Amino acid sequence: MDEQTARREIVNIGRLLYERSYVVSSDGNVSVRLDDGRIVATPTMTCKGRMTEESLAVTDDTGKPLSNTKASSELAMHLLIYQERPDVKAVCHAHPPHGTAFAVAGLAIDQPILSEVILTLGCVPLAAYGTPSTDELSVAMRPLVKHHNALLMANHGAVAYGSDLWQAFDRLETLEHTARIAILARMLGGSKNLPADAIEKLINVREAAGYLGESARCQACGYLHDTQMTCSTGDRPERSTQNDGFSINGSGKITLTREELLELLAQAAHSATAGNIW
Ligand code: 13P
Repeated sequence: MDEQTARREIVNIGRLLYERSYVVSSDGNVSVRLDDGRIVATPTMTCKGRMTEESLAVTDDTGKPLSNTKASSELAMHLLIYQERPDVKAVCHAHPPHGTAFAVAGLAIDQPILSEVILTLGCVPLAAYGTPSTDELSVAMRPLVKHHNALLMANHGAVAYGSDLWQAFDRLETLEHTARIAILARMLGGSKNLPADAIEKLINVREAAGYLGESARCQACGYLHDTQMTCSTGDRPERSTQNDGFSINGSGKITLTREELLELLAQAAHSATAGNIW
């Protein structure tokens, strides 16, 4: 994509994010990776609904400024995603209310309740809290980026990414829509998960249709479920201390505090009823 098109699309997406209340005030940030590796990013501390094409910042692939405008304070998070995912050309970070409610409640969007979401997005894990604009956030997100197309950031918001800006936005929109439906279903007494064989069929369809590749399958075992789930590719993400805070070393030995053990047991009880394998 050329720089002028990227500028135009970032301004359009910024307006959409603002109009849909995915961001308020100066929340959120958006970037595009150009074919030559440069990054066009939203400026820091600016309302994303009122940007102009001239107001955007440009950096190199390490975040070094190539324009007078200061890029988003969270550019490091965008650069991390670009490093981990060569296929990704655009990143959208926002604070959509329903998705962010999950992030604030300490919940991932990982229950298999909607066929279309399994087809087009996959489950959305929760990265541990990290202070915005610091390395803490990148450390929490790094192990998750390869196997997911959108993440929740604890007590903060959501980020989605894709091969172009519209795909990144669409994924953010699906995340928010799913979170909203999940909350409404809870108010109606709770949602019913799809059974394992239906999920397997959906995964086969999504891979045949090219919605998501096999690497997305690792989300089934890469998030919270090392002790319970099997991985269809055998390619488990490396983890040390990850989003659940449990320490898992290379030998497979696990060290837990009493609180962590209690939390693990609670999660196991929850997963046993949820049938989460997607
Ligand atoms: P920036 O304006 O620096 O991009 O920060 C916005 C934001 O959402 C922080 O979480």
